Amino acid sequence: MTLEIPRPDDWHVHLRQGKRMGDYVRAHAAAFGRVLAMPNTIPPLTTPDEISAYRELAREAAPDLDVLTAFRLMPDTGGEEVSALADSGIKAGKYYPDGVTTNSKGGLSNWRQIESALAAMEASGMVLCLHGEEPTASVLKREEAFLPVFREIREAFPRLKMILEHVSSAAGVQAVIDDQGPSAATVTVQHLLFTLDDLIGGSLNPHLFCKPVVKTDEDRKAIQERILDGDNRFFFGSDSAPHEKGQKESPHCPAGAYTAPMALPALVSWFDGVDALDRLEPFLCEFGRNFYGLPSNRGTVRLERRSWTVPQISQGCVPLMAGEELLWRVVSISAV
Ligand code: DOR
Ligand code: ZN
Repeated sequence: MTLEIPRPDDWHVHLRQGKRMGDYVRAHAAAFGRVLAMPNTIPPLTTPDEISAYRELAREAAPDLDVLTAFRLMPDTGGEEVSALADSGIKAGKYYPDGVTTNSKGGLSNWRQIESALAAMEASGMVLCLHGEEPTASVLKREEAFLPVFREIREAFPRLKMILEHVSSAAGVQAVIDDQGPSAATVTVQHLLFTLDDLIGGSLNPHLFCKPVVKTDEDRKAIQERILDGDNRFFFGSDSAPHEKGQKESPHCPAGAYTAPMALPALVSWFDGVDALDRLEPFLCEFGRNFYGLPSNRGTVRLERRSWTVPQISQGCVPLMAGEELLWRVVSISAV
């Protein structure tokens, strides 16, 4: 059995900087048509010039992949800077609470620090991408503890487009359902498929360790239900976060699951397994671009129901589910 769908979108990726960046970009280009790159590089991406130079590097690595880039909101980002970013065509800004995850030091401690930036984002129709975790709360409660901020921002900016990135909890799912304004959530492979038992229930799996951490079966079910319901506020954003094997398998394992090489086959395998292949294409190709107000991608990707084993290493990283068999594989991708 084969399946052909438009080249899909991935609305949350990490492409890093430096010598491995091109490899990570090409790993996405092998399965996707467009990605939204996150700005937690070192140094962070904050200006139109930095972002256009970054996009140019990505374009050189994979000319057929449309690489959009979010700018990073810093405590001193003001409305005028945001207007200039919007004028240069940038569609999204990323909110990192200070120190909450990889490369997020110097982030925000209070949303009121960026009130004028948020007003300019609302006025220009930009999307606010939230790393929705309160760093001072206990790790499993961090997403829930951030939700008052989500609601306060909504109250102050009724028309601001907001995305609760990598939604990981039933409470986070419910906050998006209850919101009266334009909001959505991105969903990763790991939060859709796994729980804390997979992370720490047997031997520790560092390659599933990410922020926010995968949670309980109840949380996973709440995410799965939205997808199976075909709720257009929930769409794909992998949060594929490459860290080299040696770093992940060390006593200071950084947060991040590398999913670029297996995300699409894993998703198709899951949708097929729950008899919901009809929900796949909207989740991957339609809901996100409609939320961002962007056209569909050109080209298609072909998948086949023929099992393969996720490699032990890709681009110097251990992908999620390395060594495990997946039912579906990518057979070809075409940009036209
Ligand atoms: O697990 C994560 N890794 N979560 C993030 O928010 C950042 C990411 C990274 O950059 O490695
Ligand atoms: Zn991320």
